[in-house]
Amino acid sequence: MITVNENFLKLQAGYLFPEINRRVAAFARTHPEASIIKMGIGDVTEPLAPAVVEAMHRAVDEMGKRDTLRGYGPEQGYAFLREAVVQNCYYSRGVNIEPDEVFISDGSKCDTGNLQEIFGLDNVVAVTDPVYPVYVDTNVMAGRTGAWDKTRGQYAGIVYMPCTAENGFVPELPDKPVDMIYLCYPNNPTGAVATVEQLKKWVDYARENKAIILYDAAYEAFITDGNIPHSIYEVDGARDVAIEFRSFSKTAGFTGVRCAYVVVPHSLKAGQKEGSSVDLHPIWSRRHCTKFNGASYISQAGAAAVYTEQGKKQIQEVIDLYMGNAAVMREALGKLGYAVYGGQNAPYIWVKTRNGMSSWEFFDLLLQKTHVVCTPGAGFGAAGEGYVRFSAFNLPDRVIEAMDRITKL
Ligand code: MLT
Repeated sequence: MITVNENFLKLQAGYLFPEINRRVAAFARTHPEASIIKMGIGDVTEPLAPAVVEAMHRAVDEMGKRDTLRGYGPEQGYAFLREAVVQNCYYSRGVNIEPDEVFISDGSKCDTGNLQEIFGLDNVVAVTDPVYPVYVDTNVMAGRTGAWDKTRGQYAGIVYMPCTAENGFVPELPDKPVDMIYLCYPNNPTGAVATVEQLKKWVDYARENKAIILYDAAYEAFITDGNIPHSIYEVDGARDVAIEFRSFSKTAGFTGVRCAYVVVPHSLKAGQKEGSSVDLHPIWSRRHCTKFNGASYISQAGAAAVYTEQGKKQIQEVIDLYMGNAAVMREALGKLGYAVYGGQNAPYIWVKTRNGMSSWEFFDLLLQKTHVVCTPGAGFGAAGEGYVRFSAFNLPDRVIEAMDRITKL
């Protein structure tokens, strides 16, 4: 009889966002009159920038003619986009990344989920708590997690690094050796950022312990503070120990278009059981070419337009709009006496509930009484219990309306 990959049976509950959708849909069925304001999943509300739309229209026209039609593209992405990425995201910040170290994909969720495949199953995984669930769940699927520990509400084989208000939501170094370290800054869900000094500790740790940092920088475009690094490669020595994920989803409204990239430097190495080490770049390239036929030409043409003069300006206007929402939310919730974090260099606001209310209780209360949807912090890990996350991706008048309703409640 065919057998199942039992690792999948170890996954806890459903994925967070479908569960939220399920509760919201159930509420909407019984309250068809309710005008629901969704501040749960971070999904964009502003249209694509005109420069991106024009570039994609041109790309569609090219695809519609025999002479300019593009079939399979390079699996790692078109040179025009890889070059634009290094020029605009790395050289411009004094970071040396080569175009062939950039692998274009159809999203950071896939990239962060897929990358673990090139590492041995005996590696110890370290994640922050709270954490973007994809890092944990994909390692569970691979079998790198041990059993679910009911008492702790965590997997026994994963090292969870608590991120609390006390440590500014940037974890301390682990007290036992770890090999695969997932960090995400600006952080999802807490909206916290990490300084060069804080990241340097991690880079030094990884160098000393021959570990790899999987650095998710999907929200770097929302950084407003000039002292905060946009890339882990702004830290000395990171090229030898870090992989970086970036996405056009939140930066340029590509959640429905799909385009992202991962940087795998040539200098990264991992050990073999017999003791010698191998380069990771060709291994990821091999994996990518085998399992992926490249992001669509139309998406990549649109992504390249993000780096044109017009594109940059238009995209910045949209980011400013979302960050304006974040400021409104911070102010309103702060005035109500809530402890409010994030929202200054990230599109997420992390809010402590009061009177011992659990995350899901707060979520349900808000949904029932104000018809506003947030994301329960507990869905991101044990340390997220007692917090909720609000997303700043919304229309400004809806954000004001949501804050009014919460204030009245
Ligand atoms: C979120 O709300 O955490 C993100 O939108 C989810 C994602 O990027 O997959």
